[in-house]
Amino acid sequence: MKILVTGGAGFIGSHLVEELLSDENEILIFDNCLTGKKENLDIKGNFKFINDDFGSTNSLEEIERFNPNICFHLAAQSSVVVSVQNPALDFEHNILQPIKLIQILLKSNCKKLVFTSSGGTIFGEPTTIPTAEEDYADEPESPYGVAKKRLNELIKIMTKDSNLKYSILNLSNVYGPRQDPHGEAGVVSIFANKYLNNEEPIIYGDGAQTRDYIYVKDVVTALIKASLIDENHFLNIGTGVETSVNDLANSMKMQFNSQINPIYNPAREGELKRSVLNNTKAKEDLNWKPEYSLDTGMKEVFNWLRT
Ligand SMILES: NC(=O)c1ccc[n+]([C@@H]2O[C@H](COP(=O)([O-])OP(=O)(O)OC[C@H]3O[C@@H](n4cnc5c(N)ncnc54)[C@H](O)[C@@H]3O)[C@@H](O)[C@H]2O)c1
Repeated sequence: MKILVTGGAGFIGSHLVEELLSDENEILIFDNCLTGKKENLDIKGNFKFINDDFGSTNSLEEIERFNPNICFHLAAQSSVVVSVQNPALDFEHNILQPIKLIQILLKSNCKKLVFTSSGGTIFGEPTTIPTAEEDYADEPESPYGVAKKRLNELIKIMTKDSNLKYSILNLSNVYGPRQDPHGEAGVVSIFANKYLNNEEPIIYGDGAQTRDYIYVKDVVTALIKASLIDENHFLNIGTGVETSVNDLANSMKMQFNSQINPIYNPAREGELKRSVLNNTKAKEDLNWKPEYSLDTGMKEVFNWLRT
């Protein structure tokens, strides 16, 4: 199978590539290393890595020649904060280039486009908890959320009446090895790194805000299962388990046998109070369920940071 992966040198993308590697698969990866790292692909296997925008003229020509059977589109300007500071950059990577990619895919043999959308940012504060696919109503609160939501709509419109099926997967808060512990997202990595270095983790607000933390390998399993089904999907990929930031910090403190307590800073504007996804539909449609508990996943992050 010929598989195209955009954003393959990123956190989730590199785990996906690792899982896809096999003699039967020929993999073409694009990553401009905006946030991804070449070292994330320090693995052997049948793949070609191109360090460029997937939407550059050269890349689009390369994709046309490659003629993929499946496309995993993960590349994105992935920071909400950056999208607020520089909406034009976000628009370029998260809307304009993906439109050009879809146009090429529509002319190719590609049967499936799997897109990593966002369960937490494309809609405002949820009114139903856990939030199901049909509960999404409010407007996004960041350019990142706007771009994800609009691209979801564009994918649906552009692929209508074509042979290209889509799986739009709304991911909750993904965590795991290779997530940047110095970034502004990925609270599990950030806290684990702090405890490991005997530093206080910082909690913004009162710490009662909740999130749905899903381990990266569970996400990769969902992405691959979705890619093999010849149907359109719009699905939430989360655990359905709501964890407050305070509870997360406490579990980590115990896990790492630490005496250190978090520091509380003022709440950040625009942060959702609660976010947890209803994953019933994904369980049914993909025959998938999350396998990793937060404790098990946290241990994996801790071991990775140690090494
Ligand atoms: N991590 C999460 O919790 C989460 C939640 C919801 C959705 N997502 C989505 O999942 C995808 C992967 O996220 P991640 O956490 O691995 O982030 P990431 O930043 O590690 O991965 C995104 C990758 O895309 C690359 N990239 C950006 N623009 C590009 C372009 N124009 N051409 C080629 N490469 C480009 C970056 O260099 C990076 O490697 C993103 O689309 C993100 O929006 C992530």
